[in-house]
Order: sequence, then C-alpha cells, then structure tokens
Amino acid sequence: MRILILLFALILFTQCKKQPNPPTGVVSKNAMVVSARKEASKIGSDILQKGGNAFDAMVGTELALAVAYPFAGNLGGGGFMVYRKNDGNIGGIDYREKAPLSAHKDMYLDSLGNVIPGMSTIGASGAGVPGTIAGIFEVHNKFGSLPIKDIIDPVIELVEQGVEVTAKQAARLEKYRDQIISVNGENTLFYNKCDAGDTLRYPALAYTLRRIAINGRDEFYKGETAKILARFIQEKGGYVTEEDLARYEAKWRQPIVFNYKDLRIISMSPPSSGGVTINQIFKMIEPYDIADFGHNSTKSIQLFTEAARRAYADRNFFLGDPDFVVIPLDVLLSKNYLKSRMEDFSFEAATPSGKVEHGKIEIVESNETTHYSIVDRMGNAVSVTTTLNGAYGSKLYCDELGFFLNNEMDDFSAKPGVPNMFGLIGAEANSIAPEKRMLSSMTPTIVEKEGELWMVVGSPGGSTIITAVAQTILNTYEFNLSMQESVNAPRFHHQWLPDHIVFETEGFSEELKKELESKGYHINQEPTPILGKVDAILVLPDGSLEGGADKRGDDTAVGF
Ligand code: GLY
Repeated sequence: MRILILLFALILFTQCKKQPNPPTGVVSKNAMVVSARKEASKIGSDILQKGGNAFDAMVGTELALAVAYPFAGNLGGGGFMVYRKNDGNIGGIDYREKAPLSAHKDMYLDSLGNVIPGMSTIGASGAGVPGTIAGIFEVHNKFGSLPIKDIIDPVIELVEQGVEVTAKQAARLEKYRDQIISVNGENTLFYNKCDAGDTLRYPALAYTLRRIAINGRDEFYKGETAKILARFIQEKGGYVTEEDLARYEAKWRQPIVFNYKDLRIISMSPPSSGGVTINQIFKMIEPYDIADFGHNSTKSIQLFTEAARRAYADRNFFLGDPDFVVIPLDVLLSKNYLKSRMEDFSFEAATPSGKVEHGKIEIVESNETTHYSIVDRMGNAVSVTTTLNGAYGSKLYCDELGFFLNNEMDDFSAKPGVPNMFGLIGAEANSIAPEKRMLSSMTPTIVEKEGELWMVVGSPGGSTIITAVAQTILNTYEFNLSMQESVNAPRFHHQWLPDHIVFETEGFSEELKKELESKGYHINQEPTPILGKVDAILVLPDGSLEGGADKRGDDTAVGF
C-alpha cells in the first residue's frame, strides 16, 4: 500500500512538475495570432474568424507587418516559416533573400582586399533579391483557402486608414531618421518627423498591393513592380536586376526535427542556422536535470552557456546555403558527437571559448527582425520569422512602391576569416556567390508534447534569436512558467565568441554575476536592455490558447 501511495505521489509530482503555471497572457478558445503589432495580429485573427486557415492568416499578417511595423515587416526582405498541420504533417518554407547574379565573393572588398565600410549595410548595394512576396504566394497556393483578394484587401484598407505611431515606434523612427534621409534624400516620406499618436500612411504601398492582389506574385517579380524596383535599385547603385527578380523562387525545405525529453521540436533548417543550433543546444542540455538547478540560477546559466558556446562554435564554421555547401548534419546532430562536445564541461569552471574548436569565427548580427505565431481553429499552426536584416533594412525606401529594401547581403561573410565592420567573422561555407542564400539565425519553431501541438514560438534578435527561443521553451517546460511569463522572463546569451555572457539589464543580480565570474565566466558590461522579442502561443490542457506577447515591444496577442 505504502509503495502504491509513493508511486502515486511520484506520478503526481512528475505531472505537476511538467504543468506550466496558470495562464497570465491573453487566452482564446479557438484561434490566435501573436505579432509585433496589434494591427497585424488583428488582421490575421480576422482572417481566421472569417473562415481562413493559419496559412491565409500568415499571408495577411506578413503583409500587415510591412504596414504597421516597417522596422522589420516587409515586402523588400525575406523570411522562413515552419508549419504543422492539424493532421501532424510538418514542413518549412525558405523565402530568404538571394545574392544577385552579379554578386561575387569579393564584392564588398576594396583593391587591397579590405572590407568597404557600409557597402553591405547601407543603401542599395546591401540589398539581396527579396523573397517575401514569393514566399506568401507559395504558401497561399499550397495551403490557402480564401481568395488572395480577400486576404490582401484588409491590408490595403490598413494602408489607407494609416497606422497609429506608438511611442516605441516614434523613438525608433527618430533614431534612424538621419540615416534614412542620408540614403533617400529629403523628398522621402520618412523625412517627415513622426511623434507618438501620429498616423503613418503610405499611399504608394496601397497601389503596389492592389497590383499584387490583381496580378499575383509575378507582379512583384516580372511585372510593373519588378521593373520599377530593379530600375530604382540600380539607379541607387545596387545590384538587383529584373533578371534577378524573375529568377527568384521560394523553396520548401524539410525542417530540423528532434526530441527533447517528451517534447518533439520542429525548427527551421539551413540556410537558417536556427534549427541546427537549437537542436545541438537542447541535446547537450538533455542529460542534466536543468529544472532542479532552478530558473536562471548559476548552474542552469552555466549549463546553457556551455551548450550554446559549443553549438555556436559549430554554427558559423559548418553552416551555409545547403544548395551550395555540404553540411555534415548527420554528424553535427548525432548523439555521440554532441555527447563528446560536452565531455570537458564541468560546473567547477568555464570552458574558455579558445579551447572550443573552430575558434576563428565570431557572430555579430543585426537584431532587427520580427516573428509571429498563429494557430487556427482547426489546430493548424505556423511559426514565421521575417526580416529586412537591419532596422529599416538598408534604409533604402522606394517611395514609388512604398517599402524598404533589405540589407541582407551583410549576413554573408564578406571576407571569410576576417571581421567585417560589425565584427562578423564568417567561414567559407557562408561566402558570397551568385544566387546563394545568406546564412540566417531565424528560428521559427513548433513544439509537440505527447504527439500534440503544444507551442508555437520564435523571436527576432540576430544571433540571439536561437538562445531566446531555447530559453522560452525551457521556461515553460522545465521551469513551469506560463507562456506570457516565459516570454517576459529575463534572458541571457552566449554565442561562443566573443567569450562573454550577455545579460539583459533587468533581472540578474550582481551576486549571481560575481559567482559566475568566480568560475571564470566573462560578463559583458555593456547595458543590454533586451535580448530577443518573443511572440509565442501555448496550447493549454483544455485546448484553449495562451498568447505570449513580449512585453519588450508593442507585441499583441489577438484571438477569439
Ligand atoms: N538577418 C538576421 C538573420 O537572418 O538571422
């Protein structure tokens, strides 16, 4: 009898340990969209409410972000989506930008072989061939259920009505205003100062979207829009031509799938590094009971840091566009390899990054991307991360078409082995070649628990995306935080090089940092207000949905 009671108590304890706290975020019974702006979440949710599925809502939300959140939402950039249909089928689409046909390995180097400052980051020369319109049409063609016009019309209405500028948005526009003016001149729309409460309208974007709604994806890649765009980019000194646009295709890719305890995690495959790196981190952590160490405790930070250090050391050395480079995924993700990677780890002292192989690669990427998560009432889920790379991309704004152009070419290694102006040192696997896709850190992820949809999650944040997503999953699964608590919880980051832990400014005590320092960890002393900006959805035990809309931004969950 005693044994039976003990067994029962143990089962109860295990169950309780695995149940997140009661929800603290928005809860909806049927369906939900969580994105960087309430206008975009609402457009997506309205599409779901009028009978559209998660894929229809993806198209609407993606376009609405270009209107409400031009900082990262885009027509002139690219992204990745991972999906899980309600029948358990999974997949991913890569609508990452490509290098133009005229691109070559040394295109950002001067005659002495030095990287030319700003050439891959500011203005038309940094722009890759945009993938977003190809991506959303590919998704709609394969899985959409509503006519494209019914999805795009509400976005056009939003453009015409205008979007209220939030305080955070006003501050960002002000921060980048001088750069936007220096790239585009004083006649650009963004010459006008925007204060919180003002309304932002871009009539040109309504014309562009109307043409796209009528003529489809070819309008952007082969039609009048393509002609205007290619001419504009070339007049501004960029490389993208009509031929580049005409040749662009989005690609369906098999996601990276792995188990962590009783979770099945589905994330994006190369040319994003997100899935591979998060897989390595989770598998290196798995043999330890991180929950026992406590949330954001010294030991859990040590374990996570050491796993991340090793995973990031592999990331830049081995990963690139799989259509151009052979990536040894079988080895990188194998149990034995990952076990051997952690063999020299000890809680007594940090492993210096110099002792971790492939020590010639440093990652410093732009933080300005955006993520949204969607679950529809049928249980289909999509996880989408999309970007212009930098804040407002290359800052090049096409006033005739109404959108910013990316500076994604900077995600290539301009000169393998040598840092670019942002300190980025890349490997040969990510060197520039015509029509190649640049390596990304975007980590749109879907998690199953006991075979059922459990979480949809992702984040912006350049190289910090991967650790932000991993910590959010661990916060809910191992530390029992609700979805909203998990998203809001303070985050830290280590990416092998530079060999330091970055902590968000709020949420970590001096005592904890001192303890880590005493074990040989270096702490980044620069103030870092935020790491990532996670938007996620958790399926609660009764089937309803809890949104986790990151408090760090204007992010909002809308559902019904
Ligand atoms: N441009 C940021 C990323 O792709 O990770």
